Amino acid sequence: MNTQPISPAWLRDAVFYEIYPQSFYDTNGDGIGDFQGIIDKLPYIRALGANALWINPCFDSPFKDAGYDVRDYLRVAPRYGTNEDLYRLFEEAHRLGVRVLLDLVPGHTSEAHPWFLRSGEETPNEYSGRYIWTDDWFKGVPGAPYVGGEFPRNGTYMLNFFKCQPALNYGWLHPAEPWQSAMDSPEALATREAMKDVMRFWLDHGADGFRVDMAASLVKGDDADKQGTCAVWRDIRAMLDREYPEAALVAEWSDQRLAIARAGFHMDFYLDHAGNGYHSLLRDGEASFFRRDGHGDIRRFLDDFMPRYEAARGKGYVALITCNHDTPRVCPALTADEAKLAYAFLLTLPGVPFIYYGDEIGMRYQAGMPTKEGGYTRTGTRTPMQWTHGANDGFSTADAAMLYLPVDDAPDAPTVEGQTGDPDSLLETVRALLSLRAAQPDLSPDADFEPITLPGAPRALVYRRGALLLAVNPSGDAVALPEDIVARFDGRTCLYRLGAAADTAALPPRSFAIYAAK
Ligand code: GLC
Ligand code: CA
Repeated sequence: MNTQPISPAWLRDAVFYEIYPQSFYDTNGDGIGDFQGIIDKLPYIRALGANALWINPCFDSPFKDAGYDVRDYLRVAPRYGTNEDLYRLFEEAHRLGVRVLLDLVPGHTSEAHPWFLRSGEETPNEYSGRYIWTDDWFKGVPGAPYVGGEFPRNGTYMLNFFKCQPALNYGWLHPAEPWQSAMDSPEALATREAMKDVMRFWLDHGADGFRVDMAASLVKGDDADKQGTCAVWRDIRAMLDREYPEAALVAEWSDQRLAIARAGFHMDFYLDHAGNGYHSLLRDGEASFFRRDGHGDIRRFLDDFMPRYEAARGKGYVALITCNHDTPRVCPALTADEAKLAYAFLLTLPGVPFIYYGDEIGMRYQAGMPTKEGGYTRTGTRTPMQWTHGANDGFSTADAAMLYLPVDDAPDAPTVEGQTGDPDSLLETVRALLSLRAAQPDLSPDADFEPITLPGAPRALVYRRGALLLAVNPSGDAVALPEDIVARFDGRTCLYRLGAAADTAALPPRSFAIYAAK
């Protein structure tokens, strides 16, 4: 294991809060969230215990994919404010000790980006090689989605995601056709350098780094180990290390072995994918570990998580999410009480936590919501933050019909106002857990992690972080502990608990506890 401290050092204590800017807080009554709204709520975020933000794409865009279709990387979308407002947001955040990651979309632009419009022209120009075009209007890109017939250029172009998102050209690992660029061709290198300049622009204006969209998608025809794409990122990371050593990158990749160990990302999300260990904790219906009446099995999580953790160890961190803008929220599939135990677990694992706005109060996934800005089933996870019991849940003063998305108007919709000061609430639980995490270096991502599975009891887990011992039992039954484990609890005091009174001979039903060092 590499024992070099991970750089930048601020990541070790980082707790991120993800903001979908459309839906966070509207300060000018137009029904959509804005930068001023984020600035106004910084003290709330800080008091929750988060000290870093990830803001979803806030750049000029036709919004066919909620801003992941960027039309101008260097100018913010007017609906959120001006570039100056965003610079002010960086400043205000820094004043409160909060770092800010922007969302970098390096794999594709909007089909309305000027680079792309130029690349579609018949006459070759400096942008002709910026995207991936075949050399004949009747020839597609084998094995990939492509579009023909839209532009004068004699060729078809490759897509990276939706139809509105043409793939930028970082080259091919093994170019096999005359129209496929090598990774070190001038046009592929020009794309890479252009993206570095986008990063420099925002870092120079005060951003602290980037969440990187579809980070694995750059080099085409890549091998299983993403050799080409990893090489591009190592080069970008080297630029950061030289020019912006305090900047951080978190990958949307969900393969820590490649993203951290090979590509050089500081962090990589552990995403919700059907069948993986993270999914088995929260989103696998009756089989979810945190469903009280389910039949979860912690080994499904550990078998998948441990190799990721080991791959990242000493080089970077696994980014642990409560949810994100692409994933169904944890509630109501889990009750707020189940969510407390789930968050307690996530916030004490060796990783960097990312709390999705509103998860701290148990905002609920809104099933069946009509799609908005390319959200489809993701739309129900993107509804406005619920601040108060007042009109529009305190999100906006606009008419309800004008809101970006309807607010949860259920009489029992959770709100910040309703939970503040209530020690039993999810909000105060998250706050307490984060304050404990900040006070205990053994809960930092660098401290040792030893899971101690309980023979015959896969519904519960004991685990060690540094010198602390922790236990979680989401099930409805007490779980007796074998003697050797009881001995490990001997002489320890309980620092924090959720659920029934702590007991070191058995784990009470629906409980979580942290025990101090002996
Ligand atoms: C990522 C984003 C998602 C977006 C897609 C295309 O998965 O998280 O929201 O639609 O990339 O950019
Ligand atoms: Ca607004």
